[in-house]
Amino acid sequence: MQKFIAGNWKMNGQLPDIASVKAIAAAAQNYPSVDTALCLPATLIAPAASALPDYPIGAQDCHSAVSGAHTGCISAVMLKEAGASLSIVGHSERRAAQHESDAEVRAKALAAKSAGLSVIVCVGETEAERDANMAVAVVLRQLDHSLPDEAASDWLSVAYEPVWAIGTGRIPSAGDVEQIHGAIRADLEARFGADGAKIRILYGGSMNGDNAASLLAIPNVDGGLIGGASLSADKFMPIVAAAAAV
Ligand code: 13P
Repeated sequence: MQKFIAGNWKMNGQLPDIASVKAIAAAAQNYPSVDTALCLPATLIAPAASALPDYPIGAQDCHSAVSGAHTGCISAVMLKEAGASLSIVGHSERRAAQHESDAEVRAKALAAKSAGLSVIVCVGETEAERDANMAVAVVLRQLDHSLPDEAASDWLSVAYEPVWAIGTGRIPSAGDVEQIHGAIRADLEARFGADGAKIRILYGGSMNGDNAASLLAIPNVDGGLIGGASLSADKFMPIVAAAAAV
């Protein structure tokens, strides 16, 4: 399976930072065996997509409706029109701060798919849930309720992002990553059959140029969703290089 390294810029970046998008897009051409993408703040999608029409630019969220009275929200159709080709949905920062439910995440995933976007659906346990030995159960519950029945490998990836590993510099042990990714894979195959074996499962949470090679070598780790280390080419490209070398 071709590895997929996606950046999530979160609420970072203004117009001058399109220079970093350009640098990453140019450098990524040296790694044709790896798929890459950058999920930018909504305000940067159109300028980035018009500067780089051939590079995959993504959003970080979308609304589940096509249009309507939803002040401040942006629909998947609008993101597609702005030049996005994918969207993250269900990031833990939105599940926590915007109280997004699994059902809402599922509706967003379907809306994004209907608009012609690829989708990364995020799942992951909190530290308290891991300490209570509930990590696998929590992740599988989120997965079952957040993925629509229409899920398929040609438009959907899953990102496992343990909440306690995001932005903290801490990562799970290789054994813990293997356990969760294996459980996600088994669940995807049980639900979606042979195509479930082809849905890419990304790891996210403090992935960087130093730990990417070992994380990406773990079975069923088919790529990464990168926060802080996606903001510049010098931090992002070592991860892409590691993915190419696995
Ligand atoms: P960091 O790579 O900054 O830990 O963020 C991970 C993340 O949340 C990506 O969506």
